[in-house]
Amino acid sequence: MSQKKFYITTPIYYVNDVPHIGHAYTTIASDVVARYKRLEGYEVFFLTGTDEHGQKVQQAATVLGVSPQQHVDNLHQRFKELWARLNISNSDFIRTTEERHKKLVRDILQELHAKDEIYQASYEGWYCTPCERFWTEKDLAEGNCPECQRKVEKIKEHNYFFRMGKYQQWLVDRINNDPHFILPASRRNEVLGFLEKPLEDLCVSRPKSRLPWGIPLPFDEKYVTYVWFDALINYISIHGSLDDVKASGFWPADHNMVGKDILTTHAVYWSTILKAIGLEPPKNIFAHGWWTVNGQKMSKSLQNVVEPNNLIDKFGVDVIRYFLLREVPFGLDGDFSHKALIGRLNSDLANNLGNLLNRTVNMMKKYCDGVIPTPASVGPEDLPLTEKAAEVIAEVRKLYNELSYNKILQKIWTLVDATNQYIDKTGPWNLAKTNEGKERLKTVMYNSAESLRVLGVLLNPYMPDSMSSLMKQLGVQSSIEDQGMASLENWGGLKSGNQTQKAKQLFPRIEDKQVEKLLAELDVPKNEKKESSNQITIDEFMKVELRTGKILEAEKVKKSKKLIQLKVDIGTETRQVLAGIAESYEPENLIGRTVIIVANLKPAKLMGIESQGMVLAASKDGIISLAGFDQECGQGIQVR
Ligand code: MSP
Repeated sequence: MSQKKFYITTPIYYVNDVPHIGHAYTTIASDVVARYKRLEGYEVFFLTGTDEHGQKVQQAATVLGVSPQQHVDNLHQRFKELWARLNISNSDFIRTTEERHKKLVRDILQELHAKDEIYQASYEGWYCTPCERFWTEKDLAEGNCPECQRKVEKIKEHNYFFRMGKYQQWLVDRINNDPHFILPASRRNEVLGFLEKPLEDLCVSRPKSRLPWGIPLPFDEKYVTYVWFDALINYISIHGSLDDVKASGFWPADHNMVGKDILTTHAVYWSTILKAIGLEPPKNIFAHGWWTVNGQKMSKSLQNVVEPNNLIDKFGVDVIRYFLLREVPFGLDGDFSHKALIGRLNSDLANNLGNLLNRTVNMMKKYCDGVIPTPASVGPEDLPLTEKAAEVIAEVRKLYNELSYNKILQKIWTLVDATNQYIDKTGPWNLAKTNEGKERLKTVMYNSAESLRVLGVLLNPYMPDSMSSLMKQLGVQSSIEDQGMASLENWGGLKSGNQTQKAKQLFPRIEDKQVEKLLAELDVPKNEKKESSNQITIDEFMKVELRTGKILEAEKVKKSKKLIQLKVDIGTETRQVLAGIAESYEPENLIGRTVIIVANLKPAKLMGIESQGMVLAASKDGIISLAGFDQECGQGIQVR
């Protein structure tokens, strides 16, 4: 039987950006899935690369007095070098200036033009030079670019357009029919929201006179290809011609991983381009959140860019890989904090996992001459550990479907804790005292080491170097890749008779007295927050005044599909509150209901009507459910 195939991609990075922790995040997250799927026995193709055309590259090259090609030949190395340092296991690296890529872009343009999917027209629109994108009047945010808030200029020119608009309904249906297509669900709803407006055709050309650094259109050499049209095709140009793509077994991709900022270009532009050339859209587009620094976007001008190479020097690669995926749920934004990173290193890695390995290897030396003993069969006292391992393995496998890295790691740590508890409870140091105990000791030591082997396999995708060192310490000869997830199906994969090895600590603790010096060396501002942005103190929570309120009146807001205007009695007064719930509730069914109101929210105007609070509700797949109580509790009661 041929091996099952799995294809995952990162976005291709703008070659002129200095690689930072945000870029590393997408790449590490993709690498973890690639490594995990290899452990599950898949033939994995994992692609990353650089986006090398466009105005910014052209301008920077001109300033330096080099050709754009020379410039990108130099710049793309920074990404390649960083990925090597971060232990990224990509199968190939695509550059959009490579011949293999340019050829497919031109072939696709030619085919679409021949099929009348691309046509020429005169176009007038607002152009944002930094984003290299046209906007319509209604897209603009107070006259500026809605994406970067910078000035736009009005441009009128002849251009070529891809008939994207005609695929609107197909795309809406595709998204609605496949909940796995765009994840997380909240982002899927954003795309559907975007598709509520008429979808316009996509301008796919730029006049060469304005921008020479791009792929010339095959049917009109006076134009080059719009960078996004060019860049998106990287995901298939790696496999050769369109026929090669179809024959490769690697399309549709299993995951196109993207940041939330580039979801529309992928979900809308990319899916419709694929439709037009007769290929399936990717099976999944996953949009993750952003890393900020003290709540702000990382940028060169703010000088707050977190540079991964410095972090690797100070903390080691695996600590960074672990931290980025453990700290913040994939899909949400997070604030980067060096102190939080040190906290995770000391607690999760040094104290819990590292200490478990140390004590096991030390006791193995002391009580078993450093040789993995032969255990008796699993008894009732061992069951909590072996059952925990089986539960964790099954749960981890499931959680990969949603790419819930932080939940996966939390789950894995329940096995770390269970193993530490198993050792504490069985007490090898007491067992060693009697002859009867010594027999039992063999089983206890074996099970502790086997549990560590299970942890080594599960954590290999996150911390490959550290986990191969862990295996060495346990005396395991075969690589983790060779053991694979299959080696976890039954308890007892660890070979008895292996010679364990004591090595240096996997994750040395950073002591309090070292912290300040380390942070100073990394130029970390003194006021950096300790907690990550998704944690608040109880005092911060108590600032939010939540009260029960009874709905007295409810009516739909005219001209709004979503808003209902409520009059809510919150005990001390009646408030007028607007709630975006009209698609899930009829106003008459709301009267008399007790809801939770944020009572100290600054009033705001929506569609010209003042809202004096907010009603709490949950939203899943477009269905809204109001938060409430299972017993009647009256109005004006504080909710905590
Ligand atoms: N070149 C385009 C992508 C073309 S894909 C066909 C591009 N490049 S980028 O370098 O600007 O961004 C690449 C990825 O890095 C995006 O997924 C983006 O979301 C991610 N990040 C850039 N800064 C980030 C953070 N601060 N935090 C997390 N990820 C962010 O867009």
